Amino acid sequence: MFTYHNGELHAEKVSLHTVAKSVGTPAYVYSANAFVNRYREFETALAGLNHMICYAMKANSNQAILALLNDIGAGFDAVSAGEIARALAAGASGSKIVFSGVGKTQQELRFALEAGVRRFNVESEPELEILNEIAISIGRIADVAMRVNPDIDAKTHSKISTGKADNKFGVPIRRIREVYRRAAILEGINVVGIDMHIGSQLTDIAPYRSAFKVFRELVQQLRKDGHYIQQLDLGGGLGINYQSDSTNLPLLAQYTALIRAFISDLGCEIEIEPGRYIAGNSGCLLTEVVYVKEGDGRSFVVVDAAMNDLLRPAMYGAWHSIRHVQELRQNCNEERYDVVGPVCESSDTFAVQRLIPSVSQGDLLVIESAGAYGAVMASEYNTRSLAPEILVDGNQFAVVRPRPSVNEIISRDKIPEWLWNRHSLKCQ
Ligand code: LLP
Repeated sequence: MFTYHNGELHAEKVSLHTVAKSVGTPAYVYSANAFVNRYREFETALAGLNHMICYAMKANSNQAILALLNDIGAGFDAVSAGEIARALAAGASGSKIVFSGVGKTQQELRFALEAGVRRFNVESEPELEILNEIAISIGRIADVAMRVNPDIDAKTHSKISTGKADNKFGVPIRRIREVYRRAAILEGINVVGIDMHIGSQLTDIAPYRSAFKVFRELVQQLRKDGHYIQQLDLGGGLGINYQSDSTNLPLLAQYTALIRAFISDLGCEIEIEPGRYIAGNSGCLLTEVVYVKEGDGRSFVVVDAAMNDLLRPAMYGAWHSIRHVQELRQNCNEERYDVVGPVCESSDTFAVQRLIPSVSQGDLLVIESAGAYGAVMASEYNTRSLAPEILVDGNQFAVVRPRPSVNEIISRDKIPEWLWNRHSLKCQ
């Protein structure tokens, strides 16, 4: 969905030059059809199975994206009351929202019960007890799946691995039967299934194989123990291609083949929670080169996007491809650059010694595959306004979150009266 036409990189049919001229840089640019296509890839791959795709909205929760996905039938995986409110505001019905997360507060549990969420993916015994009490106190019954921690290494970055025993997530597999026994006697709790999520950006299918195998045995065991297990939530985590924005259909095919092999004959509804696969390659971060600076033995491309806009390289050492918006001749000069942002930290680096076609001041570049965990993880560090988000659909585009002015940022802070008085006394 991001391809060159007439010498310029386009998002669908909109030139990224046009976007930059109209809204400035840095800016996130999303392709509506890329979101739809990636979602549909899952639909196609799961055809014939009783399934539900709950988009992990933490990846990109812009209202426009949620409305788009809601429109084509997606469910949502939310991890806070804020996310539930976002999904509801975008038109989703509570019955299509699953509530996950390791630290749901009492207020959040109550809010979710009142919103009529489809199910709680409960991550601990204390959460189960509190949920039970709140449900009873407001005369509701909470549909619940326990999240099991299967102690499986997802073989991904340690910061986004979630299925090992030393991770904070879920109930250890050796205690899970006991927790189900307890859940079964709680009046405010209705056990409906089981849940798992072993990590994110998995590009090796083997951990899924191990996890699904364990999951299958567990479902059979829990059923033998007399529990009603009807909804199987397999989590998300399927990795994308960061080298280019091309799709990862072969991995998706392997993944869904495993679901068919290990899960589909259990007679349950199968739920998955993909975030990155749907959003990642569907957006890019558009940025302008502020300076090309010669260091000692290396060249720095200083761009106007920074780690506050896209944290992934600084946080996980993540690799994102970088391209010129202007299409270059095939045999143009390439040089090695460190591509860096203006924030006052050395970790504000998008690429190290990256070979890219020669860059000049004022060039427009895109940092690709930034549709997931980009805008949602942005901050205003260094009092930099959040980058706006632009949604392209065919030949039209819209600003789906504007860039806040610096005044808006500053005016969120309040100087208390006592401090203000002291300050003005001093000035007299
Ligand atoms: N379900 C649960 C319970 C999760 O915790 C997550 C992601 C997902 C689904 C979706 O995983 P996905 O399909 O997007 O891999 N900020 C990190 C990623 C953190 C993922 C957290 N959990 C990054 O930029 O790589």
